[in-house]
Amino acid sequence: MKYVSAFDLKRNYESMKDEIKEALDRVLESQRFILGEEVEKFEKEVSSYLEVAHAVGCGSGTDALFLSLMSLDIKEGDEVITTPYTFFATASSIAKLGAKPVFVDIDPLTYNIDTDKVVEYITPRTKAVIVVHLFGLMTPVEKLEPLLKDKGIHLIEDCAQSFGAWRKIDGKIRRCGTIGTFGCFSFYPTKNLGGYGDGGLVTTNLSSLAERIKRLRAHGCSGEYIHEELGMNSRLDAIQAAVLRCRLRHVDDWNRKRRIIAERYRLLFNVYKISEFVKAPSEDEGSYHVYHQYVVRCERRDDLSKYLDENGIGTRVYYPLPLHLQPVFKYLDYRRGDFPEAEKLSQDSLALPMYPELTPDEQEYVVKTIAKFYR
Ligand SMILES: Cc1ncc(COP(=O)(O)O)c(C=O)c1O
Repeated sequence: MKYVSAFDLKRNYESMKDEIKEALDRVLESQRFILGEEVEKFEKEVSSYLEVAHAVGCGSGTDALFLSLMSLDIKEGDEVITTPYTFFATASSIAKLGAKPVFVDIDPLTYNIDTDKVVEYITPRTKAVIVVHLFGLMTPVEKLEPLLKDKGIHLIEDCAQSFGAWRKIDGKIRRCGTIGTFGCFSFYPTKNLGGYGDGGLVTTNLSSLAERIKRLRAHGCSGEYIHEELGMNSRLDAIQAAVLRCRLRHVDDWNRKRRIIAERYRLLFNVYKISEFVKAPSEDEGSYHVYHQYVVRCERRDDLSKYLDENGIGTRVYYPLPLHLQPVFKYLDYRRGDFPEAEKLSQDSLALPMYPELTPDEQEYVVKTIAKFYR
């Protein structure tokens, strides 16, 4: 039996071992581990890659969201609109500040928040909208931007799963994380740009907010042992920055490979005649999907996933329970049926193996096994 894991970081490491060891050695020789020159260089390199004025490293993607909301003084009594179909951190960062997460259903084709519906949920208490560019596909933020600007509501982009993704807006390529007030990135090891531990980053074009994030990530410090406000301890460390600087040089190539793999899956679904059972993810016009995950919609999802596991193939379900139905958010008083598209997707979505080093043979084995299940 062949084995195809859901992801494989080891192959990636093998392809760049020497580079990584050299970078780690540089940090060890410097004996400077928290923030410092390595982090500053990484921040500059990311801001130039993304074409955004400021990039501020922090401890994780969760912290990037939390720091962004903190810097906007989001607090109890405020509402922040977001999607119920995302990783928990998107909504928990809102709730941890005492504000209310307000969910809006998703678009069943792109799996992202339905931008046409957002307007129905805006109240005088709405302070921000967090869109999530889920699985590597950007939300069409240009549809929301004018409405939010008009009402003085901040747009925050959760880019944890979409480093390198872009959309053509007014004929110009705009990378995710450069359009809203903030872009929030995660460098969790399995992300498209992943580190070797936790890490995150906030992007913004506004100097005053970048300064505030820098202060908040270090205990609200404005000078040595002078504290202007209550902040956090959420600093990017030099070892992560050194690793990420190496990996940033490869991320475009990896994203290209992910796109080739996605296209091959699509072709194989046709060749093995399973398109009626397994729907490939869609990529809307003008979008550059970076396929952080390759999430299909399929019939008898749980049985299929079990069958693939028995045949040595790793799959994942992102996410089996939408956020409005999570026990911790019971107090928000949502019910099953409130967001039918998110609920349906949580029942029939399945992430197939996706990483730049996945081989055509492995992909064919995955699709052949799916075909066997449905015959
Ligand atoms: C959409 C989304 N938002 C936020 C996060 C949080 O990032 P981190 O794990 O770095 O805290 C993740 C990571 O899993 C994510 O996928």
